[in-house]
Amino acid sequence: MSAPAASSGPILFFDSGIGGLSVVKEARILLPEHAYVYVADDAAFPYGAWEEEALRARLIELFGRLISRFSPALIVIACNTASTLAISDLRAAYPGQHFVGTVPAIKPAAERTRSGLVSVLATPGTVRRQYTRDLIAQYAAKCHVRLVGSENLARLAEQYMREGFVDEEAVRAEIAPCFLEHGERRTDIVVLACTHYPFLVNRMRKTAPWPVDWIDTSEAIARRALTLAQELSRPRPAEGPDIALFTSRRPAANLLRLFAGFGFRVAEENIGQSYT
Ligand code: DGL
Repeated sequence: MSAPAASSGPILFFDSGIGGLSVVKEARILLPEHAYVYVADDAAFPYGAWEEEALRARLIELFGRLISRFSPALIVIACNTASTLAISDLRAAYPGQHFVGTVPAIKPAAERTRSGLVSVLATPGTVRRQYTRDLIAQYAAKCHVRLVGSENLARLAEQYMREGFVDEEAVRAEIAPCFLEHGERRTDIVVLACTHYPFLVNRMRKTAPWPVDWIDTSEAIARRALTLAQELSRPRPAEGPDIALFTSRRPAANLLRLFAGFGFRVAEENIGQSYT
């Protein structure tokens, strides 16, 4: 097979909200010379609450528009909830497009745990997925894996990043089901299987009943993007901030500031079904 031709298209990062910025943060260090586009499907946030067929159809349709609009060299789906549902459907629908997905880091957790008690903290959608259950069967059959579907953490992370404030008691309540004790053994690893969660990890450390390793995949995803980008994408053609787009109305001032801090100018462009 011949090597794919390098494209001058940007690297497109995608999430339902601000979660993908945890991956962008690492990618900016590893891939500083590439042009980025960030797309937040915030009109549909939170993805964790969506019914599977409806979300799959939305993603396939939206990515069709994003691919024709941006011709990205690479798409990083910086969202576990979308990747575990639709990465293979997206690859099948757009065979010429390169995708990097984000899925729960169950394999490294199973390799690293000493107690054998691992928890996967994710959205209710990711917890329900067959993809997630297959990862456990394949890589963690010898561990006791507790799947914890959090209704509120992604929203709390959005609030924290926009407003700089989060209710610590609410964080404590969301993470509490991750902590198990079986006789002498207790949970020693919590997998952060939603890209929003790394932004709250300090609050989680503070409110956890005992210390654990929090596995965050942002850097690993950025490294995978780096490997592919070296083959597929040429360095940015022009100077200037990268753009971010939202599927809802133009976002509030605090979100514009947040994205500016990550090197993005928010573009007023209609890419979403719900943009009016
Ligand atoms: N950031 C997303 C993830 O990694 C999900 C947040 C949501 O929309 O529920 O799963």
